[in-house]
Amino acid sequence: MQVVKHINELRTLLDHSRKEGLTIGFVPTMGALHAGHLSLVELAGQQTGFVVVSIFVNPTQFNDKADLDRYPRDLQKDLDLLSSSLCQLVFAPEPNEIYPEPDTRQFNFGTLEQVMEGKFRPGHFNGVAQVVSRLFDIVQPDKAFFGQKDFQQLAIIREMVRKMKLGVEIVSCPIIREADGLAMSSRNMLLDAVQRQSAVHISATLSEANNKTGDLSVEELCRWVIARINENEQLKTEYFEIVNSLTLMPVMSWDEPCVKVGCIAVHCGKVRLIDNIEFTKKSIQ
Ligand code: PAJ
Repeated sequence: MQVVKHINELRTLLDHSRKEGLTIGFVPTMGALHAGHLSLVELAGQQTGFVVVSIFVNPTQFNDKADLDRYPRDLQKDLDLLSSSLCQLVFAPEPNEIYPEPDTRQFNFGTLEQVMEGKFRPGHFNGVAQVVSRLFDIVQPDKAFFGQKDFQQLAIIREMVRKMKLGVEIVSCPIIREADGLAMSSRNMLLDAVQRQSAVHISATLSEANNKTGDLSVEELCRWVIARINENEQLKTEYFEIVNSLTLMPVMSWDEPCVKVGCIAVHCGKVRLIDNIEFTKKSIQ
């Protein structure tokens, strides 16, 4: 596995792989890697001939400076983890490599960016689109791998690829969870022991909610989930919405003919956690 910091070194290595006829798989990350990230690398290794992982804590997607400052960083540990994975090349640039000049591009994702994360983290998805489009331009991957953990991000990236007519296939990868159900996240390591125990109520409540679609209306279920989570004194729900998986618009009734996903953001102390669940059960009319 090779590790590079500069775009020109990366391009030379990628040109070489392309000449050998290998397809390029790309996994963008912000480091502090865990088994969720590694599952993306694994899938990339199965589906492409040469896997590139980027590690870059992108400042433009943090609407909260304190969140950026406390974001966990441990490059050596990340490299150790990747060295026993199917990753062949790590791109770990400094900010001025990605942004030699400030990126002033404004993307417009319409309603996709006006709900949920977009509503509560203004500018977040613009920053994600800036960095991902920049990284796609640098790496020119055949396939790029994103986790369903960040459900709205996946929808935004797909829309960006469609709008900009980028020739990259986006592969959606399932959420990897801790043994107790908590969705893996780099932010979990910022939780203290009590918060960590409480955080499991998020995924547990989403699973319970999935069994209640026959008993409660969409609106009742939303209220139930929020109340249930907020019962725990460590947790404060920012939003819980049940949305159409394609449009991300709130669903009004279980009868709507679409895949329904419940998306949640919860504050656990200073740490903000997100999770989601695809509802599997049909409602009883
Ligand atoms: P980061 O939070 O590091 O996540 C990198 C990728 O790993 C994303 O596609 C995310 O959805 C996926 N991922 C994280 N936790 C996961 C889990 N528990 N199961 C499955 N996949 C998981 O998302 C970002 O970085 C950034 O916004 C980025 C796309 C790199 C742009 O800066």
